Amino acid sequence: MYSLVFLLVCPFAASANALEFTSVYEWNEFKFTLPDNSVKSLEPRQVEAWYLAVSCKKVFLGIHHGSKTINYTLAWLPTNATSTTPQLYPYPSWEVQERANCRIIQSARGLTVDSVDRLWVLDNGNIKCPAKLLIFNLKNDSVEFIHEFPHDVVSHNYGARSLHDLVLDETKNGSFAYISVRETQHFLVFDLTRNRSWRVQTKNIYVHALALSPLKNRTRLFVSHYFSRELFSISVSNLRAGEENVTPISVGQKSFYSNRLTMDDRGLLYFGLGNNRSVSVWNSSESFHEKQVYQVHFHASQESRVE
Ligand SMILES: *[C@@H]1O[C@H](CO)[C@@H](O)[C@H](O)[C@H]1NC(C)=O
Ligand SMILES: *[C@@H]1O[C@H](CO)[C@@H](O)[C@H](O)[C@H]1NC(C)=O
Ligand SMILES: *[C@@H]1O[C@H](CO)[C@@H](O)[C@H](O)[C@H]1NC(C)=O
Ligand SMILES: *[C@@H]1O[C@H](CO)[C@@H](O)[C@H](O)[C@H]1NC(C)=O
Ligand SMILES: *[C@@H]1O[C@H](CO)[C@@H](O)[C@H](O)[C@H]1NC(C)=O
Repeated sequence: MYSLVFLLVCPFAASANALEFTSVYEWNEFKFTLPDNSVKSLEPRQVEAWYLAVSCKKVFLGIHHGSKTINYTLAWLPTNATSTTPQLYPYPSWEVQERANCRIIQSARGLTVDSVDRLWVLDNGNIKCPAKLLIFNLKNDSVEFIHEFPHDVVSHNYGARSLHDLVLDETKNGSFAYISVRETQHFLVFDLTRNRSWRVQTKNIYVHALALSPLKNRTRLFVSHYFSRELFSISVSNLRAGEENVTPISVGQKSFYSNRLTMDDRGLLYFGLGNNRSVSVWNSSESFHEKQVYQVHFHASQESRVE
């Protein structure tokens, strides 16, 4: 069984209520739609769905699987599905994920939906295609922008790169994306207005999971590494100004490592706690302490993931 728990953050729906985690969909097998509208089923253990983004109408999943029949890594399902095991469809279409064309998605990683209904997709590329960032207009599902990372920002040598996740910083001066790269002591900044990306060195600190508050007056990017429990913060004004070297400041020790962090518009930071299979929260206006808000209950043979 594979459960999906997500926060539906829809700009048109008021959501000031207390946060409740409920299991929305649960799959005993995933059904992937093929071009002729037939279906290919995979067991949950054959599928890794690490990346998730939600718009008003669609849930997007960045999926990794070993199947040669299923030619896509970015899938979607409707937010209002009546079934608890909805079928998965390629986003935006089957054709736009074909393998030979470097203009299209090869390996979807971090995903996020912005305030003007666009989907940002981090693509790790493949042996032939360099890594890039794509922005889709969700009103008509067209590609609005592509930024291919230059070789000195993300290596064009496939074996030497593994992009992980991204967060968006939407400011009056334009939008920035902060992007983590597995097992490196730097992360990336992308400035959409100037169509420019660069590396930011982090003084021997590995950046894996990232979170930024949607609060208007946000000042800090939170980061942590996969194999360390320590949580750090980085000033965002320096990043927007083009800084290439930062000193992350330690803000606390979590009880486990985290693959993902996320923050809400009240400044609450949520983090998955690795093997504990739980989600905890910290109010970033206070000194660091964690409070568990969700625990996955599962049998030894089951798979579950919390995003
Ligand atoms: C999609 O919509 C945008 C504006 O909302 C427009 O600029 C663009 O041309 C449209 N693309 C297609 C393929 O219809
Ligand atoms: C943005 O920059 C990239 C890499 O420098 C370039 O390949 C691409 O054509 C640019 N896109 C636009 C819309 O200017
Ligand atoms: C916007 O950018 C300009 C020039 O880089 C800078 O002087 C200004 O402080 C920025 N404004 C904000 C609100 O960040
Ligand atoms: C997870 O953390 C909670 C709270 O600290 C603890 O009660 C629980 O035993 C932990 N579970 C596992 C599997 O370690
Ligand atoms: C976070 O902490 C601050 C300071 O203690 C408090 O004023 C605020 O209400 C807290 N926010 C939430 C959502 O609990």
